[in-house]
Amino acid sequence: MQYEVVLPAAGSGKRMGAGHNKLFLKLLEKPILIHTLEVFQQDTLCTGIWLAVKPEERLYIQTMLQEYGITKVKSLPAGGVERQHSVHSCMKEMEQVDIVLVHDAARPFITHDIIANLVQSAHTYGAAIAGVRAKDTMKKVRNGVIEETVDRDSLWMIQTPQAFQYDLIVEAEDVAEKVGFLGTDEAMLVERLGHAVHIVESNYENVKITTQEDLIFGEAILRKRALDLA
Ligand code: CTP
Ligand code: MG
Repeated sequence: MQYEVVLPAAGSGKRMGAGHNKLFLKLLEKPILIHTLEVFQQDTLCTGIWLAVKPEERLYIQTMLQEYGITKVKSLPAGGVERQHSVHSCMKEMEQVDIVLVHDAARPFITHDIIANLVQSAHTYGAAIAGVRAKDTMKKVRNGVIEETVDRDSLWMIQTPQAFQYDLIVEAEDVAEKVGFLGTDEAMLVERLGHAVHIVESNYENVKITTQEDLIFGEAILRKRALDLA
């Protein structure tokens, strides 16, 4: 089962505080954006990449794609104010495919096996997202005081990729746009349609590079993987 992937890369990286798009920062000499793109460049099931970018960064990114031999990018549509807008601007250009994956460009450690599980699950059920079980004790807090301890068994921390049958994600985005609904992920838009979204168990390495300390985790993950391969 083949898929195309939407990679929103048009953020500002405010929490990283680098003064520019965090995706240009390097992990072991290679930009974060390229680490992520290489996963999909090498994934045999992936037939196309849609990369949402800031218009003023498009040229710079196109040069990077050439330098690193990334050939699967079909288009670099302009991103929007919010991540959801950036995803939507890619979806507006994409033609009918079997499965669409949406994946944060800031998650460079996604693996081929998790992608394959997501694609299979989306093919079977319509919608599937990556997540990991919550590790810490979780409590609901109001005004600085514990209200209750939440049953951890039912809690999952959600990541990307999120995978959908093409018609389903198109419908979910159209409805969200029509009513002006802004979700924090694509699954929320599908949940609003009343459609079941399945979980695929991912791993704790699939972090989103968000703050400075994530750069340290990120390089540690890359070093460990290089050792595993040696
Ligand atoms: N993103 C996007 N368009 C936006 C906002 C975010 O394409 N308007 C992308 C980011 O480039 C990133 C992904 O969505 O790959 C996840 O967003 P996040 O980790 O929040 O990145 P930033 O928005 O860049 O960071 P921050 O929130 O700290 O500013
Ligand atoms: Mg953000």
